[in-house]
This record gives sequence, C-alpha cells and structure tokens, in this order.
Amino acid sequence: MNIERVAVIGAGVMGSGIAAQVANAGIAVYLLDLPAQEGSNRNAIAEAAIAKLLTTEPPPLMLSENVGLIHPGNNEDDLFRLAEVDWVIEAVVENPAVKRDLYRKLDKVCRPGTLISSNTSSLPLHVLTQELPDSFKRRFLITHFFNPPRYMRLLELVTSSDLAPEALDRIRVFADQKLGKGCVLCHDTPGFIANRIGTFWIQTAIREAIALNLSVEQSDAVMTLFGIPKTGVFGLLDLVGLDLMPHILKSFLQTLPAEDKLRDIAAIPSLMTDMIEQGYTGRKGKGGFYRLKPGSTDKIK
Ligand code: NAI
Repeated sequence: MNIERVAVIGAGVMGSGIAAQVANAGIAVYLLDLPAQEGSNRNAIAEAAIAKLLTTEPPPLMLSENVGLIHPGNNEDDLFRLAEVDWVIEAVVENPAVKRDLYRKLDKVCRPGTLISSNTSSLPLHVLTQELPDSFKRRFLITHFFNPPRYMRLLELVTSSDLAPEALDRIRVFADQKLGKGCVLCHDTPGFIANRIGTFWIQTAIREAIALNLSVEQSDAVMTLFGIPKTGVFGLLDLVGLDLMPHILKSFLQTLPAEDKLRDIAAIPSLMTDMIEQGYTGRKGKGGFYRLKPGSTDKIK
C-alpha cells in the first residue's frame, strides 16, 4: 500500500520542515499544532509556520509552487481528518507524557493501516510506547529527521519487534524514493546513533572553548574546515535550538545504564542553562551563539 497522504503534528522547527519536504515531493500533507489561544483563528500557529517556510533565508525550506499542498489545522478541531492519511509523523515537544497522550488519541482516530512515527531526538521507543495498546505498537516506529529536513539526507529509523513487517518497508521506500533520504536502522538506545556521537562533539566543543578561551568563530572555523559539520558546532546549536539539548542530556541521564561512558559528559553546561533562561535559544529565539535578531542591541556575555 503506497503512502499518498501524510500528516505532521507539531508545527515547530522540525514539524514544519518535514511537512515542507513532503509537500516538495508533491504529496498532500496536514500540518497540525495546538489551537491558538488568542484571536479567532484557531489555526494561527500552523499558518504562521507555513508562512515562515517560504521566507527562511537562505535558502527557503519550501518550494512556493507546492505550498497549497500543506493544509494547516489544530489538534482539537482537525484530528478527525487523520482518518484519511497513510502516515502520521509526530513532531511535538520532547516530552514523553505529551507524546503518549497524543498517541492514545491517534490510535483511536487513525484506521488500522495508518503508520504513526515519532521524530523524537532522544527518547527510546519503549519509553514512548509504555502502556499503549498492541494496536498502536504494531504501527509505530521512530523516524528521526535532521534539521533542516530539506537538506539533511540522514533519516534514522528505530523499530520494535511489535512493528508489522511491511510497515518498515513502506516507510523506507517512501523516504528513499519520495523524500530523497538515506535511511539507517538504529538500535532502541537513548540518542540512537547520531545524537550519541553529536552530543559528544557538542559537549567537548563547549568545554574546550571555555578551557582554552576560544571564540565561537575560532572553534567553528576549525570544525568547518575539518569538514564536520557544515555549520560548526556552535552554529549547529543555534540551528537546532539550544533548548533541545537539556532534553537530550536529561534523557541520557534517565535512560543510560550506569556503566555507559556517555553519562560522563551528559551534565548540562551552565553556559547553556543561562543562555536558555535569557531567551538565547538560537535562530528560533533572540539569537544564540551567533545571529542576534536584526536591530537588537543585546550582546551575548
Ligand atoms: P519546537 O519547540 O520548535 O516545536 C514543537 C511544536 O509542537 C510547537 O509548535 C508546539 O506548539 C507544538 N506542540 C506541543 N504540544 C503539542 C500537541 N499536543 N499537539 C500539537 N502540537 C503540539 O520543537 P522542535 O525542535 O521542532 O522538536 C520537535 C520534535 O523533533 C522533538 O521531539 C525533538 O526532539 C525532535 N527533533 C528536533 C530537532 C531539532 O533540530 N530541533 C532535530 C530532530 C528531532
């Protein structure tokens, strides 16, 4: 059975980027977020996210001719529409209780053949499916996209032995042929593969920049010229959002076995906590290590 209609829930950095990538492939997609609390338009959050996709510079995440394929909505009024879709991608906040609450609703609304996946960056699959019915576990996997979804080829896939055998094939074929992804199967470990390695880089870059009194430009120049990653480590943190890191690090501490060496580097740096508290969460906030909002007189201390 082909995947012909998709829904993405959570219209933040990742959800909107994933929806754009699905629409770029010529496929209709619902993009649902919470209902807006102010004004009469309950779809305002998802609509604002779609408008932003066309203006992101450089380069835009969305091809303007496909924007009509993304249908904005909210998770109260429009859940019933998901009865028609073949794949629902959850990209809401990194909170297992919020995600599980949504899954319970999706399991009731979606027909049995609908695939459901999470874009979690750190939560193990067995944590996400705790106390969920077998009907849900048969259709659920983790599909971990990377930011920005239009340009990052990697898609990590995490499955359980409960997953229906053909479900993985359907996702792999679609991700490969329609979304242009390279899929890598991962064990159900905290942080899967990329974030386990990535977290090590990030924590080491922050520690060494402080210890050696490096500027972020200096540190990132070394990593960029070395070839990993394109943005440098501090530029990458601005891109993914600094506020995501405490979730990943906390999840490591909660789920890694006592003997796992990754625990030794999982403490949240105080610099990061201070920046998040002051709203310097990166590109989505007041700015981050780089890129303060135009016109702002703020300086990063
Ligand atoms: P974000 O904070 O930019 O967006 C989250 C969105 O979810 C917000 O718009 C929020 O209003 C919405 N939301 C919260 N509860 C909801 C609910 N019950 N129903 C509908 N919408 C709801 O977060 P971001 O960065 O997009 O992360 C989303 C997920 O993707 C997380 O699980 C994160 O771990 C994962 N992820 C993030 C990456 C990144 O680079 N930021 C990379 C890969 C995965």
